Amino acid sequence: MTETAQAADLVRQEEKLNPIPEPFEGEFPIRVRGLKNVFGSNVIHEGLDLDVRRGEIIGVVGGSGTGKSVLMRSIIGLQIPQEGTIEVLGRSITDATDDDDIDIRSRWGILFQGGALFSTLTVGENVEVPLLEFFPEIHDELRHEIARYKVVMSGLPADATGKFPSELSGGMRKRAGLARALALDPELLFLDEPTAGLDPIGAAAFDALIAELQQTLDLTVFLITHDLDTLYEICDRVAVIADRKVIAVGTIPELLATDHPWIQEYFNGPRGRAARDSQDRAEAKGRAAPGDRSAKAGVAVPDTATDTQISDTDTSDTDSSGTDNSDTEKSDSGVAADKSADDGE
Ligand SMILES: Nc1ncnc2c1ncn2[C@@H]1O[C@H](COP(=O)(O)OP(=O)(O)OP(=O)(O)O)[C@@H](O)[C@H]1O
Ligand SMILES: [Mg+2]
Repeated sequence: MTETAQAADLVRQEEKLNPIPEPFEGEFPIRVRGLKNVFGSNVIHEGLDLDVRRGEIIGVVGGSGTGKSVLMRSIIGLQIPQEGTIEVLGRSITDATDDDDIDIRSRWGILFQGGALFSTLTVGENVEVPLLEFFPEIHDELRHEIARYKVVMSGLPADATGKFPSELSGGMRKRAGLARALALDPELLFLDEPTAGLDPIGAAAFDALIAELQQTLDLTVFLITHDLDTLYEICDRVAVIADRKVIAVGTIPELLATDHPWIQEYFNGPRGRAARDSQDRAEAKGRAAPGDRSAKAGVAVPDTATDTQISDTDTSDTDSSGTDNSDTEKSDSGVAADKSADDGE
């Protein structure tokens, strides 16, 4: 623990507040065993196992409706499973008491599918919500300053802090959601379809930002995505959900070596091949190989944020009400193709 953290801890102890927990140092910050989720007669998961390694970006893929979001909600305790055990940062989520719950919830950040910002609060106020909930003792000035810092860290201009979500493009709202997810300096970051609805350039910039933040902040990232480029660009491993469970988890070459029809169709279909060709071309030009983000290590966050800043001219899909109204998938050709929207959170 640094001196500053020790000092903060002393203050907390004196003021009878919860001590700041030590960072998790085990190998698997997320362990899921025998998970079963059922809605009515609809069995979503059965016998689902998954281990997420500390410090990795794990991509979670599967057809629409296979239960990716439900899996994420189970891991963060929003969905009580019928069966199974879930451990997060060494604590059981499935047996958590209210006190444990508060402690552990302050150690992860979540970007829900669809963003889920409070529309009546400014971006800065949105980022302050978790700070107010978990650290009410922080005085107003410091809380505003932390929020502004997280906004800039997420690649938004500082003046976005005072704007309302409806004043932002879809891409900017995703970054605002990311800023809120980072508010509490989490160890774990959950991202549900973070690049859906972004144009190809915006999506690539968002990928780069996530990879840089993961390195700089030493995060473990649970990333649900349909975006093949994201999988190739920034994921260390990919977990595939089909047949109600995780049918395979590994690097993309490892997955390609399996003969499951869904995996073959997904990675060897036209879009899969296009994403792989794009990655091959990038590597030929000397960029980092998939899973090898060492080239980005050590990048200072504020500089990083400036590099990837976006502005109001971002071309993501928005409608006049300021809500994402369509998801797009980017292809290698740079042509965005519509697919069904899902802002289901
Ligand atoms: N609260 C709920 N009540 C009833 N059924 C639900 C609930 N939440 C999810 N489901 C059902 O569970 C299934 C899995 O949903 P989930 O949102 O996890 O899919 P997904 O894999 O995230 O899909 P997508 O890729 O489209 O986001 C779907 O059939 C959905 O209708
Ligand atoms: Mg989903």
